Amino acid sequence: MNRKFSNCVALALALVLCQLFCSTTGESYQVGMHNVSELVDSNGLVLLLFYSNRCHYSMQLLPIFDAAADQLHSRLGGSGQLALGKVNCDEEPEMENYYDIGKYPTIKIVRFQHVSKNEYRGQRSLEAIMVFAIEEIQDPIQQFVSLKDLYDLSSHKYLVIGHYQDKSSVEYDAYRKAASNLKDHCHFHVNFNASHAQNSLTFRQNMNHTESLSVFTGNMSSQEDLLNWFHETCIPIVRTLTFYNAEEITEEGKPLVILFHHPQDTTSRKDFEKVINAELIDELEYVNFLTADGNLFASPLSHMKKTEADLPFIAIDTFMHMYPFRNYDDLHKPGMLKQFVGSLSSGDLHWNYHFGDFVESASQPEEQEYGDDDILFTLPPISKFKDLRPSKHRYTFARDEL
Ligand SMILES: *[C@@H]1O[C@H](CO)[C@@H](O)[C@H](O)[C@H]1NC(C)=O
Ligand SMILES: *[C@@H]1O[C@H](CO)[C@@H](O)[C@H](O)[C@H]1NC(C)=O
Ligand SMILES: *[C@@H]1O[C@H](CO)[C@@H](O)[C@H](O)[C@H]1NC(C)=O
Ligand SMILES: *[C@@H]1O[C@H](CO)[C@@H](O)[C@H](O)[C@H]1NC(C)=O
Repeated sequence: MNRKFSNCVALALALVLCQLFCSTTGESYQVGMHNVSELVDSNGLVLLLFYSNRCHYSMQLLPIFDAAADQLHSRLGGSGQLALGKVNCDEEPEMENYYDIGKYPTIKIVRFQHVSKNEYRGQRSLEAIMVFAIEEIQDPIQQFVSLKDLYDLSSHKYLVIGHYQDKSSVEYDAYRKAASNLKDHCHFHVNFNASHAQNSLTFRQNMNHTESLSVFTGNMSSQEDLLNWFHETCIPIVRTLTFYNAEEITEEGKPLVILFHHPQDTTSRKDFEKVINAELIDELEYVNFLTADGNLFASPLSHMKKTEADLPFIAIDTFMHMYPFRNYDDLHKPGMLKQFVGSLSSGDLHWNYHFGDFVESASQPEEQEYGDDDILFTLPPISKFKDLRPSKHRYTFARDEL
């Protein structure tokens, strides 16, 4: 329990806003294990606040959350689109386990009965919670008339394209519900035409590359089947690190293999992805592959004594240390990146840091340490990304914290 309380987090701004808005009388629904399903089954979106009366920050957030519930209710009525619920963890340990709560307060997101892995990480203010909730309930699927309409999309997101006969069908309803969970990763589209031979869903990485096309062959009425398929297809093997997803990604706890690149340089990203797809798919279980805009993430770069001139540049961050891949061009030599990443588990990476097989010895040591024999050991630079992992001092992740 102590760990959770120590994770209680600061909320000054929220408190100020509360003083402005907390005069409202409405409240979020108090729920427990025996009646949470009533709320979850009858609302498309449910935000669930897990709190403890013994946590000061929970107590600060509670009136703000209640005020948001009240305002959202007066805006949307009991339309079944969304509801806010709260769980008193002092009385509901079972709920806490079921929803895998690691700190107070936590706001869980449940969309069409599916509990999202990601929690609400926005500002703990009335306005931010409301904006989030309203955006969440927007239709995740865009309608198109002709496939040509989609060619102009200049987004990096993957696409899922549906052809449905009828908007009011069970199949389309399942598509809409499943899509609401993956809208951060894919763009969802639909064309309705009663003349379609059948309902169909196709995934594409890019409209211009037909080789990336795959067709859903599961049960079109099953939200669960669709969700699984979206998870497999929409979440890329190599993700783009941003200030918005950094906390979520670091929370997975896997070492980060990061390509830092110039924002205009798409070639190195493609090459990096190609090598990973060809040689390193098995490592996915143990590491996260990421690309990062080297200008945006200049701080971890300079930490490794790198500048824009050194891009593109690959490094591993283990949350203990950062290890630079010595020569970017080695990426093109079969097996080199695999060996570099593989050396993480074998312990070679640390060893080689000193003796230099993969990592560059020119990098300045961050720390010095004396071994038993009074031999000077140099350690690689300390991790920059460990700061991004959830901490008791922080709620949201902002640029200056890096
Ligand atoms: C749900 O159960 C809790 C106790 O676990 C109770 O306090 C609350 O009033 C119930 N909520 C509803 C909406 O019935
Ligand atoms: C629906 O499909 C039929 C047959 O493919 C086509 O002739 C018709 O123009 C389509 N209707 C719309 C509204 O796109
Ligand atoms: C696809 O190709 C067209 C021209 O063939 C181009 O205008 C468009 O930008 C391309 N779209 C993407 C996402 O690459
Ligand atoms: C497809 O999924 C729906 C909803 O889960 C279910 O009712 C139906 O039995 C499934 N159909 C098949 C053929 O499995």
